Amino acid sequence: MASHSQNDVTDGFCKEFQSFATNAIHVGQEPEQWKSMAVVPPISLSTTFKQYGPGNHAGFEYSRSGNPTRNCLEKAVASLDGAQHCLALASGLAATMTITHMLKSGDGVVCMNDVYGGTNRYFRKVAAEMGIDISFADCTKPQVLKAALKPNTKLLWIETPTNPTMKVVDIKACAEIAHQHNKDIVVVVDNTFMSAYFQRPLALGADICMYSATKYMNGHSDVVMGLVSVNREDLYERLKFLQNALGAVPSPFDCYLCNRGLKTLHLRMRQHFKNALAAATFLEADPRVDRVIFPGLPSHPQHELMKRQCTGCPGMITFYIKGNLENATTFLSNLKLFALAESLGGYESLAEHPAIMTHASVPEEERIVLGISDTLIRLSVGLEDDQDIIDDLRQALNAAHPKLPKK
Ligand SMILES: Cc1ncc(COP(=O)(O)O)c(C=O)c1O
Repeated sequence: MASHSQNDVTDGFCKEFQSFATNAIHVGQEPEQWKSMAVVPPISLSTTFKQYGPGNHAGFEYSRSGNPTRNCLEKAVASLDGAQHCLALASGLAATMTITHMLKSGDGVVCMNDVYGGTNRYFRKVAAEMGIDISFADCTKPQVLKAALKPNTKLLWIETPTNPTMKVVDIKACAEIAHQHNKDIVVVVDNTFMSAYFQRPLALGADICMYSATKYMNGHSDVVMGLVSVNREDLYERLKFLQNALGAVPSPFDCYLCNRGLKTLHLRMRQHFKNALAAATFLEADPRVDRVIFPGLPSHPQHELMKRQCTGCPGMITFYIKGNLENATTFLSNLKLFALAESLGGYESLAEHPAIMTHASVPEEERIVLGISDTLIRLSVGLEDDQDIIDDLRQALNAAHPKLPKK
C-alpha cells in the first residue's frame, strides 16, 4: 500500500492502494486493442469469432470461453485487486458455485457462521447434497476456527464485514491458521461489502477474492454479476476451465456496464464512507436508537482491526431501533429518500429489515444467536447529500417513536 492524499474520514486507516484510480480508468482499456482505436471499449455481442484456419484465431473462439468486452473488465478488476487474473461470472452466487466446483465429493468447507443468506443456503442445500462436507464457524475467534478445520477441509470461506451484523474477520490471521493446518486449503474472501477500493484480501493472505459485483463494484443497481480474482496460476487455470465448462458467464452488455461502473469506484466509495459516517454518528446520538453497528465508528468492537486491514468503510450500517417490531416497521415504512428494498452498494440509499427480508430463510434460533432481531435495521447509505439522508432518518424516527424525546 502506498501513500496518496487522504481525506478526513480515512485518517487512521491503511493508505489508499497506489494508482487505484488510474488503473480503474486505464488497465485493460487500451484503444490500441481495437482497429477503430475506440477509447471506450465496445460491447462485443458476437457469440463466435472467425478463425484464420482451424484452431488458428486472434484470441477468441466462442463467447462463453472468452469475450472481448468481458476481457476488458477482467483485466481492470485484476489490477484493482492486485491480482494476476480475474474471471467474471453471471452473479455472485455463480462465482460461489464455480469456486465450490473445484472440490469433489467428500471434501470439506469451513464457512464463517455469519454470511450472506444465499451463500449459507447454497452450501447447506446444494453443495451438501452433492457430498461436500459443510461446517460453519465463528471465524472472529481463532480457537473456534482452529477447532473447525478437519483433515478433509479444502476451502475456508470468509465474509467480512458480515451481513447484516457487521462482524469483522481478521483475514490475515484466518489465512495463517488455515494454511498452517494445511497449506493447500484455499482461503476465499467474499469482498462484496468492501469493494476493491477498501480491502485487498489477496495481499492479506487469501487465495481467492470474490464479489457479488451486483453491489459496490458495479455500483449502479443495474447489473447482476460475480467476480473472482486470483494470483495462483493453478487456481486460475482450474477456475478458467470451470468458467467455460459450467458456463455461468455474464452478458457482454453487463460487462460493459460493470466496467463503466469501475471508473468511479474510488469516488463512490469515499462518498459512501463520508455519508455513512455522518448517518451513523447521527443515529448513535439519537435516544430512539439502542445501538449502531458501523465499523467506521470507534464504538465498533473491531474498529482497530478495521483500520489495520482496510483503507476505509463502505456505506453499510446496521442499528437496533428502540421498541419492538412495530417500531421497526413504522420506521421503515415512513422513509422517503431511502427505498425499502433488498440489495446494497448502489448510488441510492436503501433500507431493509433483515429478519423479514434478506435473512428470513435463516432459522429463528440461528437469527437469535447472530443478533438478527425484530428491531435490527440495515441501511445501505447512498451518495445523496448527507443532510438529506439525516433528515430522512430523523423524520422516520419521529414517526416510529412519536412519544419518545427527539434528539
Ligand atoms: C455478501 C454477498 N455475497 C454474495 C451475494 C450473492 O450475489 P448475487 O446476488 O450477485 O448472486 C450477495 C448478494 O446479496 C451478498 O450480499
